[in-house]
Amino acid sequence: MFPSSVQLSLSSSTTFPVVSISIIIIFIIFFGKYVIIKTTSNQLGLPPGPTPLPFIGCTIQMLLNRPTFRWIQELMAQFKTPILCIRLGPSTHVIVVSCPNLACEFLRKQDIVFSSRPETLSTYLVSDGYKTTILSPPGDQWKKMRTILVHDVLSPPIYKWLQPKRDEEANHLLSYIHNQIEKHATPTDSGFFGDGMEDGGPGEEETEHVASVFTILKYLYAFSIIDFYPWLGGKIDFDGHQKIIKTAIQRVRKYQDRLIDERIQMWNEGVRKVKDDVLDVLINHETPKLTAEEIKAQILEIMLAAIDNPSNAIEWAMAEMINEPTILKRATAELDHEAPEIFEA
Ligand code: HEM
Repeated sequence: MFPSSVQLSLSSSTTFPVVSISIIIIFIIFFGKYVIIKTTSNQLGLPPGPTPLPFIGCTIQMLLNRPTFRWIQELMAQFKTPILCIRLGPSTHVIVVSCPNLACEFLRKQDIVFSSRPETLSTYLVSDGYKTTILSPPGDQWKKMRTILVHDVLSPPIYKWLQPKRDEEANHLLSYIHNQIEKHATPTDSGFFGDGMEDGGPGEEETEHVASVFTILKYLYAFSIIDFYPWLGGKIDFDGHQKIIKTAIQRVRKYQDRLIDERIQMWNEGVRKVKDDVLDVLINHETPKLTAEEIKAQILEIMLAAIDNPSNAIEWAMAEMINEPTILKRATAELDHEAPEIFEA
C-alpha cells in the first residue's frame, strides 16, 4: 500500500532509538495517506483548486484568508473556474460551484448522490445523537422523524390549524414595537419562558434562550478541526467549539425540556385532553410513538429551523431590496396598501 522505499525504511529501523521509530511511523501515516489521496484524486478527476498540503490539506490557507467566502471567490477567479475543489484535512473534498447550471446538476439531477449530510460533532450534539430530521444523515431514524414532520407537523391542515397562534405572536410583536415607539409600557401577554418585561419585550429567560439559540446556529456546521480528524474521537476540544455548543444546548434545553416534561405529565395524568399545538401532536403520535428524548431533540431542531432560516431569508431580501430601490418602493407600496393600519398605529 505504501511506497516500497518507505516500507524499507520501516523494516531497517528496528535498531533505531524509539524516537526515530515514532518519527518514521508518523511520516509513513502522513505520507501514505497523502499518496493514497493523491492517487485517488487523480483517478476521480477532481475539479481544479489550490494545492493541498499533505495531511492538513488547505486548512491553514483557509484559516489565514478570512472571510472564507471571499477567499473562495478569489480562488475561483484565479483558476477561472465555475467549479472548485478545496481539500480540508486528510480526505474531505469541498466542491464549490458558482454557476446555476452546475448547481442544478448537483441539487437536482445528481441529488441522490449529493444529498447525504456530513456527520459533524456539532450536528451530533444538537440532534442528541441524530434523533431528529434536519441534521440527521439519511437512515431509518431520519425517515421516521421526517415522515412524522411532513404528515403531522408541516402539512397544510396543520399550517391552517396553527394560524391563530401565528396571529397571536404577530400581534404580540407589533404591540411590543408600538410600545417601543411610544416609549410607554402597556403590559402584553408574557413570553413563553419567564415573565417577560412590562412593555412586552423579552425578559431575562427569553433573552438567554434566544442568545443561546443563535450561539448554536453560529457553531452548527462551523469549521471545526475535529470534524476533519474523526480518529481523535472528540476527545480534544482543539478550537473550544465543543464546550461552547454544549453549554448553549444546555441553556436552551433547560427552558424547553422543563415545559416538555410538564406537558408529557399533563397528558399522562389526563389533565390535558385536547391537542392545541405541535408539542401535543408529537407527544400523542401513535405508530410510531416518540420517546421524550426524541421529542425534546426534535423541538430544539424546529426551534433552530424556525428562527434561522426565515430571519436569514428576510435579511437577504432586505439587502437585495436596498440594492434595488424600485423593488423596495413596490414592496413598501404593497404593504401600505395591504395593511395600512399597522403603519398608522
Ligand atoms: C425561509 C425559511 C426556510 C428555508 C429557506 C429553509 C431551507 C431548508 C433547506 C435548504 C433544507 C434542506 C437541508 C438539507 O437537506 O440538509 C431544509 C430542510 C428542512 N427544513 Fe427548512 N427552511 C426554512 C424554514 C423552515 C422551518 C420554519 C421549518 C420548521 C418549522 C423547517 C423545517 C425543515 C425540515 C424538517 C427539513 C428537513 C427535511 C428533510 O430532512 O427531508 N424549515 N430547509
